Parts: sequence; structure tokens; C-alpha cells
Amino acid sequence: MSPDILSAAGTIPSSCLHSIFRTAERVEEETGVDVVKLHVGDPYFNPSDDVADAFVDAVRRGKTKYTGVEGLPELRAAAVEKLRADNDVDSAVSRLLISPGSCQGLAALMQSLVEPGAEILLPELHWPVHLQQSLLAGFRPVLYSLGADFRPDPEVIAAAATPRTRVLLINSPANPTGVVLNRDEIGALLELARTRGWHVISDEAYEHFCYEGEHISVASLERDVPVAERIVHSVFTFSKSFAMTGYRLGYVALANDRAADVMKVVQEANIIGTSTPVQYAGIAALNGRSEAAATNRKLVQHNRDVALPPLMRAGLLRELPAGGWYAMLDVGRTGLDAETFAMRLLESKGVAVVPGNGFAMRPDVDDRGHIRSHDYAPWARHLIRVAFCVDPTWLETGVHRLLEFVDECGGSGLDSTG
Ligand SMILES: Cc1ncc(COP(=O)(O)O)c(C=O)c1O
Repeated sequence: MSPDILSAAGTIPSSCLHSIFRTAERVEEETGVDVVKLHVGDPYFNPSDDVADAFVDAVRRGKTKYTGVEGLPELRAAAVEKLRADNDVDSAVSRLLISPGSCQGLAALMQSLVEPGAEILLPELHWPVHLQQSLLAGFRPVLYSLGADFRPDPEVIAAAATPRTRVLLINSPANPTGVVLNRDEIGALLELARTRGWHVISDEAYEHFCYEGEHISVASLERDVPVAERIVHSVFTFSKSFAMTGYRLGYVALANDRAADVMKVVQEANIIGTSTPVQYAGIAALNGRSEAAATNRKLVQHNRDVALPPLMRAGLLRELPAGGWYAMLDVGRTGLDAETFAMRLLESKGVAVVPGNGFAMRPDVDDRGHIRSHDYAPWARHLIRVAFCVDPTWLETGVHRLLEFVDECGGSGLDSTG
């Protein structure tokens, strides 16, 4: 018999995103019919030919050896220039690390910042991966309540913090809520973090997908602070802006040189380096970034503007998301809880969505960082997340079938999780 697994990882449940992903694949296999996939943030459009050509060309030229753990200097220089020109962020090649996807960059960043007993502040409605990463790194997650319309309130965050708080995570535009924070809101959060001596992790995966308001990079608000005193670590991805999800490429702009040196060591142990031909593709993507990002934003915004209003008219969605790729629907009037709704919708209509309670998990963590038990915020009981970055025809079909399903459920409002 093999020894038991007693790690903290062994107590972390699989995220709702992966559970529904696997279930949708199983349904497809069993029925032989394509599922309408509104559950994954994977776009229907592709990277430009330049990106594919750069990848293939790098492979053919034998650019397939290890690079330094930090990434190719040319790619890092291109990312620094992009941050300067587009994000108003003052980074430097020495402080910028390439990672195999921003998810890995986030995980490594958390490993770099964690210390025994340290707490990380996450919003109560969050991307489940942020919570998993926090726990795996060894942080105790502290989930703070969001205000009206899922916006963070610095006073609430200050009250949730403790002397052990080390990190505040900001994700704007947000997954799953679509909230885009404005300059004042970000300024207030940064001020709080600075006063309390916290690090800030800014996950800007959806930086190019703002439909109302503009994207403000958190680090742009500390560009006049001496580098050694900066606290904002910013994480970016090629997955969303350039539709490069399967390439697995991201980058982290560390606040200061010390943080960059620490994260380099973490990455030495984790990845050795990022795929070399993929990094060449990344250089091509950054070279053509303005056109690609603008085109892709228009495509997703068009989807939002065309496909989501029927959900609003049906009373399932209050307003169009200001940013990101997702809409949170409230299906309370069907009387079904989120998980039952998602499962029945998949089985009866072949449409996959993510139950929203999975974005509001509340783990009870012991001193060793093991989850003793977990539950879900009761207010998330009827929330469903729909991705609107998918093919417009599929999206329309998915929304149509979802509305049909809601009608068939009737509107008793009685809770029958049955
Ligand atoms: C908020 C957020 N951050 C980061 C990522 C990770 O993207 P990747 O690892 O593909 O760069 C995602 C992917 O869905 C996301 O939603």
C-alpha cells in the first residue's frame, strides 16, 4: 500500500472550472454531440499568422534549447516597452520574468512572497485558481466582502486584515464579475496596502477587454515611487489579448529587484525556463499587439452587446459586464441551485456553464494550511458564470437554449435542489 498523502494540496478541492470542463467532455464522449461550451475562457479567434510563423520558424531554426530562467532578453525588452507605452508602467528587463502562462507566474509569485502564517486578501467572489494558488503557496486566504455591484471597499478590506496580512490581490477587469476598477478605486486600494506594509499582486489578464471605463494598471500609480520602495507586482498574459491560450505564455513585472531575484530562484526550481519557440511567438505577438488587441476586444464586445441583452430582458443579468469575458447570471427564479442548474442544462440542452458558487468557496483552514472543511457563500447559491468570448453562433445558440431551459423550469422561485 502506498503512503497516505497528508499535504495541504491533498485537502484542496478541484476547482469548479475543471470539474465542469471534465463533465462537458464526458457528455460529448457519451452522446457524440458537441456541447455548447460557455464555461471556458477560451476565445473563438486565433493569434495572427505572424505569431504562428514566428513559432514554426523558431522550431525550424533550432531555437529549441533552454533559455535563461528569466526568459529571452528580446521578449523581456519587448514586454518592458509595451508596459511603458501602453500601461504607463515603469518596469525594467532586470525586473521582468517570462512564465509559462500567467497562471504559473501568479503561483510562483505567491511562493516568492509567502512566509509562515502569512495571510492573503482575496475578494469573496474570486477566480478559484487564485484561492488554490494561495493555499498551495502556504498563505492563509482571508476573503473580504464585496460591496454593491461586486466592488471592493477599502474600509471593509482594512477591517478584514490582521497583523499577519502580507498580500492584497487585485484583479481588474475581474474574473468572474467583469468589474473594472477606476483610478480612484485603485488609488485607494494601493494607499491602504502602502500604509499597512502589504505587497499587491495585480492580475491584469483581461487588460485589453474593457468596454466601459479604461484599464488602469495598478503599478502605473507608483511609477514615481523609488524602485526599491515599490510594492506592486503585476502579472500579464498572452492568452487573452492575443488568443494564445494553448501557447502558455505570460510575464510578471516585479515591483523591485529584490522581489525579482527571489522569484528567479522560485522559477529555477519550478520551470527551469519557458518554452523557447513559444517565446519567439510572444515577440511577434507584442510587435503586432495594438492591432490584435483592438480587433479581439471588438470581437468580444460585439458578442457582449448582441448576446447578453436577451439575458437582461429575462431578468437573469442586471447589467452588461464592463470588462472581461464573463457574465454572472442569477438563476434564482428557476428555483434551482447553481450546481443543479448547470448539470441539468448540460444534460438536457447540451450547454455547459459554470456554477457560480464555486467562485465563492469559503475554506476553513487549520494552522498547517490544511482545509478542514469548506462551504460556499449562500448569496452565490444561484449564480452562473457564462463566458462570452466564444463563437457568436454558438453563443447565440447557448443563450437561446439557456433561456428555453429557464422557461421550462417555470418561475416558482421555490428552491428545489432535487
Ligand atoms: C483572472 C485570470 N488570471 C489569469 C489567468 C490565466 O491565464 P494563463 O495562465 O492562460 O495566462 C486567467 C485565465 O482564465 C484568468 O481568468
